[in-house]
Amino acid sequence: MITVRAPATSANLGSGFDVFGVALGRPADVIQVEKAEETSIEVTGVGSRFIPEDPEGNTVGAVAKALDAPAHIRIDKGVRPASGLGSSAASAAGAALALNELYDRGYSRSELVPIAAEGEELVSGEAHEDNVAPALLGGFTIAAGGDVGVTSVDARIPLVVCLPESVVSTRDARDVIPDTASLDELVNTVGMAATLAVGMCRDDPDLVGRGMHDEVVSPARAALIDGYEAVRDAAIDAGATGVTVSGAGPGVIAACYPGRRRAIASAMVEEFDERGVECRAYQTAVGPGATVHSSESD
Ligand code: HSE
Repeated sequence: MITVRAPATSANLGSGFDVFGVALGRPADVIQVEKAEETSIEVTGVGSRFIPEDPEGNTVGAVAKALDAPAHIRIDKGVRPASGLGSSAASAAGAALALNELYDRGYSRSELVPIAAEGEELVSGEAHEDNVAPALLGGFTIAAGGDVGVTSVDARIPLVVCLPESVVSTRDARDVIPDTASLDELVNTVGMAATLAVGMCRDDPDLVGRGMHDEVVSPARAALIDGYEAVRDAAIDAGATGVTVSGAGPGVIAACYPGRRRAIASAMVEEFDERGVECRAYQTAVGPGATVHSSESD
């Protein structure tokens, strides 16, 4: 049996739509796999009642198929589905790593990225790599696609992620995105994304926060999150260097300097509370990718 801990992730980071992602120190899913004649799936934990256990409809079922690795797969969800924290990606990446090990397939973590993304395709209709890449590789990842593939950088930026009790599906959140962007918006986005990437390389929370600014995708999605502007402003007042929608939302992510997380988390929770929106804040940081926790042979 193989057990893997696969982290939550935050995709986009504002200016890096469908390209940037970070692994989060917490929360995480735990995936256990055992060889079996046919794949079967058991899901427990946060939001498990919304997740199909039929292998044909589950992200990890698609991964098991792609790896030709039938198994009994237990998923203990720590990452809530439809949260903007890469819930399906955590399960897909964790299952890909665990099954690769269980069946000794020999794929590198980078090679597992497109395989795990097949699970993402099942859930969102498109094979995004911006959540599965950081879930597997850890740190800050750039899923550029094409011949460039995925680049990753270790980073230690402190983060706060505030998760309201509302649900936004990735499909719905993609429907609100404008079809086109102007040249000015393109230039601005390139500038911001480049600033953010340099900030990650330098472990500079100021550059990362400022580089999160995005005028195209995030404003359209912010409208789906009750109280977003007030929560963002409260986080900035409490010391956040930048705030944006986490993935497709409704999670909201803030970057900051060390020592500021508690104040920022309190400020964000207070603002959601004032609107009667229940939420949970995670004080976290850019963290490692999925880890194999135990490995026992039968
Ligand atoms: N980049 C994707 C999006 C992440 O924002 O729609 C969610 O799968």
